Amino acid sequence: MDLTRRVAEAADLVTVALDELLPRADGPEARLTEAMRYAALGPGKRLRTFFALETGRMFDLDEGYVLRAACGLECVHAYSLIHDDLPCMDDDDIRRGRPTVHRAYDEMTAVLAGDALQAAAFEIVTHPDTHPDGNVRAELAHRLALAAGARGMVGGQMIDMLGIREDLGGVARMQRLKTGALIACAFELPLVIARAQDAERSALMAFAHDIGLAYQIVDDLLDAEGEAEAVGKAVGKDAAAGKTNFVTLLGADAARERLGLLKTQTKSHLDPFGAQAEFLRASVDFVLERRQ
Ligand code: IPE
Ligand code: IPE
Ligand code: MG
Ligand code: MG
Ligand code: MG
Repeated sequence: MDLTRRVAEAADLVTVALDELLPRADGPEARLTEAMRYAALGPGKRLRTFFALETGRMFDLDEGYVLRAACGLECVHAYSLIHDDLPCMDDDDIRRGRPTVHRAYDEMTAVLAGDALQAAAFEIVTHPDTHPDGNVRAELAHRLALAAGARGMVGGQMIDMLGIREDLGGVARMQRLKTGALIACAFELPLVIARAQDAERSALMAFAHDIGLAYQIVDDLLDAEGEAEAVGKAVGKDAAAGKTNFVTLLGADAARERLGLLKTQTKSHLDPFGAQAEFLRASVDFVLERRQ
């Protein structure tokens, strides 16, 4: 099977599972649950789910457990995108090739749908079907909370929104929190289920760190040079907003050069896993070459 099919399969699995897990309502709250479903079931790349499922396979984990953990993570990610697109933040009209949630509904519904998706994430992860051992469920919830909150994604969003002109170290730190934390969480959750050894954990965390960094550099390059139609969201926003990111700071050529160096380094973290890491290894090229 090739990588593209494997990623598409992960996307299908998580979309079907989320469709089952997310609430539907009949009363006036139907507007809320529809907006949650619009955001979470939309055509995302589902890379975090792919990373989680591949890691689960390397450790021979029950796919059902990993998939439910990935559903929780995708809910947090979907919530982060709804809020990121709001007029008070990036003020974007298009996401995943469709109107953003506040455009398809309205701002208050978008805020509430984000809030409720965050709660749904923890409802899913702490449900007994996610793992029979309550200690494992608690650890999963703890890891997800750390990645989502002030020391993770939300902390990074604060730094981004303040628009402080950062140096390279500052941009790297912002990225680690803003996007790196949730990407790393895609590896951490299955590692918790696997009760992995320290050496395996460190190797995968190093991989997660580098692929998260590469992911954001590509996102910044797409913002600078991509086509809105292909990318599925507005481009040229970071420079227009006076934001510092890898490309506004380094320039596109130097950013690409950095990506080239990162490529080998990222893959090398998977050496201890040999052939079992075949698809994760191939995903590095996929992330670096993505056009959307
Ligand atoms: C977008 O994330 C926000 C960033 C982390 C740069 P993705 O690029 O994973 O978005 P979807 O889920 O595929 O739409
Ligand atoms: C936001 O980063 C990442 C989140 C935590 C949602 P961006 O603002 O760069 O993401 P895009 O470019 O809108 O997807
Ligand atoms: Mg943003
Ligand atoms: Mg944005
Ligand atoms: Mg961006």
